[in-house]
Amino acid sequence: MRILFLGDLVGKPGYSAVVRHAGRLRKTLKLDALIVNAENASDGSGLMPRQYQKLISSGVDGITLGDHIYRRKEIVDVLTSSDRIVKPANYPSAAPGKNWVLLPIPTASQPLALVSIMGQVFMKPVDCPFDALDRVLEEIESHTDHILVDVHAEATSDKQIIARYLDGRVTAVLGTHTHVPTADACIFPGGTAFQCDVGMCGPYESIIGRDIARVTHTTRTNEPCHFHVATGDIRLCGAIVESDDQGRAVDIERFEECLASE
Ligand SMILES: [Fe+2]
Ligand SMILES: [Fe+2]
Repeated sequence: MRILFLGDLVGKPGYSAVVRHAGRLRKTLKLDALIVNAENASDGSGLMPRQYQKLISSGVDGITLGDHIYRRKEIVDVLTSSDRIVKPANYPSAAPGKNWVLLPIPTASQPLALVSIMGQVFMKPVDCPFDALDRVLEEIESHTDHILVDVHAEATSDKQIIARYLDGRVTAVLGTHTHVPTADACIFPGGTAFQCDVGMCGPYESIIGRDIARVTHTTRTNEPCHFHVATGDIRLCGAIVESDDQGRAVDIERFEECLASE
């Protein structure tokens, strides 16, 4: 199975670029599945239902989110009813959304299970990610060997610990949340592909997607102001993972496409 996972779609630049290019990427990269993290799609925070619909209809198979999941409350109905979007599996059980979903992949022999998990370091308190993953993987076991986990966390070590815990149990553990791609894409000894952070889809002439001047001003003065989504140097960033019929990763490569000249 050949999967492209794209990191956090930031604001209109990131969201619109994915809607515009999803079909072409599916074809030219010969993808079986396209997954995106859309926690920053709606003006930098959250995801609106119409954006969800547009992403799916443009060729996205499944969507993960993160700490901004409920920023647009309109998305709650989608989270509880759709089989193509997940909440972090270590959020409380009362938090709206599904801990995992099974995505049909017509061009592959098995479906793809999608899971999101939140880290614990420098993040708001969440339930234990290890216990949550054990529970979720037990539920998925009888359904498919192909499992993609989005690890949404701030610290690289936090992501590495979770990924090593899953080595040999899932196809890939791919990081999001910091919006900056890391150069550590690899396959662990047990056959799990990993990258600490796949980077964002959005404006790279920015501070993690936001206007440089405004973020700098607030940081220097402590005066609050709205951090507009930036506009320059739009790139799509992610990782392409290829797996065998048993769901073991055989290849991972960083994906980066600059759209600045458009
Ligand atoms: Fe993000
Ligand atoms: Fe985040």
